Amino acid sequence: MTTTVEASQSRLERGRNMGMERALVLDTVRVTEQAAIAASRVAGKGDSELVDQAGTDAMRRVLNELDIDGEIVIGEGERDEAPMLYIGERVGHGGENSWQVDIAVDPVEGTGIAARMVNNAVAVIALAENGGLFQAPDTYMEKLIVGPPAAGKVNLTWPVAANLHSVALSLDREIDDLTIVILDRPRHQALIQQVRDAGARVKLIGDGDVIAALSAAVRGTNVHAVMGTGGAPEGVLAAAALKCLGGEIQGRFQPRNEEERARLEAKGASVDRVYRTDELAPGQNIVFSATGITDGDLLKGVKFFKNGARTHTVSLGYQSRVMRFSDGVHLFAEGARVTVHI
Ligand code: FBP
Repeated sequence: MTTTVEASQSRLERGRNMGMERALVLDTVRVTEQAAIAASRVAGKGDSELVDQAGTDAMRRVLNELDIDGEIVIGEGERDEAPMLYIGERVGHGGENSWQVDIAVDPVEGTGIAARMVNNAVAVIALAENGGLFQAPDTYMEKLIVGPPAAGKVNLTWPVAANLHSVALSLDREIDDLTIVILDRPRHQALIQQVRDAGARVKLIGDGDVIAALSAAVRGTNVHAVMGTGGAPEGVLAAAALKCLGGEIQGRFQPRNEEERARLEAKGASVDRVYRTDELAPGQNIVFSATGITDGDLLKGVKFFKNGARTHTVSLGYQSRVMRFSDGVHLFAEGARVTVHI
């Protein structure tokens, strides 16, 4: 039985958590908006490093303006590989009253598609209290991602057809009416065949399984699940979003070599078991934001006009369970920047 003291403590805790979310949700939107604008400026030039660098520089600049004492736990790589937003880098003002947060970033999720100006490149960030995001090293992860109706009703260890059957049942439709997103990679040949043999349709994507994960959790996108192997860091970003949305990710680490296996062991991660949403994103104070760089299923890309740009962002908070779509009109006038949210 919950005592009065426990009840008022949990009300206090919830109030504190809501405070963190309210304080940071608009800030995170600003972070991804600025990263998307900077990346989009150089998108379509065929240079994925240029686009990544532009997004990373802008994201880091805005992060350092925020009232946070943050540590990058999922970033652009290890310190020796990445000049900025590397794992372990500290960002934010870091004052006495700053929010202590762990941060997962992907300034340009889908650098290849952004460089070619193909659909679905986004700038992404997730923030949580310390320890609220699994510190997955840069390795692969086998994933099964579903929306809220199928959450708790699928299992990565089951045959593909059994999971599709369960997703169809949860959505009250036939397997033939399902669209499953899979990264277009040779390693997925057998999986693609199994999905098609079971009767579902496969939507192959060139890159970008984080935004695909969000699409699977939002009705009306015509994406019903995401399957296959992609980046483990992207798995944690997807978990943060899915936790806010009530969807589910199940992931199994797939190290590509002994070095990656050793990195996983150093983090205390097992390669033999399936990780659930709550293990990949255990935080209670998760804030997530993604801004479109190029047009996509869920978000529009950045549109430039004379002295300004327009952005489209989705932001999420675990405590409030609110999903917000926001348009930002950013006016650049004589070096000054004014951002009008509508
Ligand atoms: P980048 O943001 O590094 O370009 O990664 C995009 C991405 O497609 C992810 O969405 C996905 O999880 C991963 O790459 C798949 O890795 P790979 O391209 O090696 O198959």
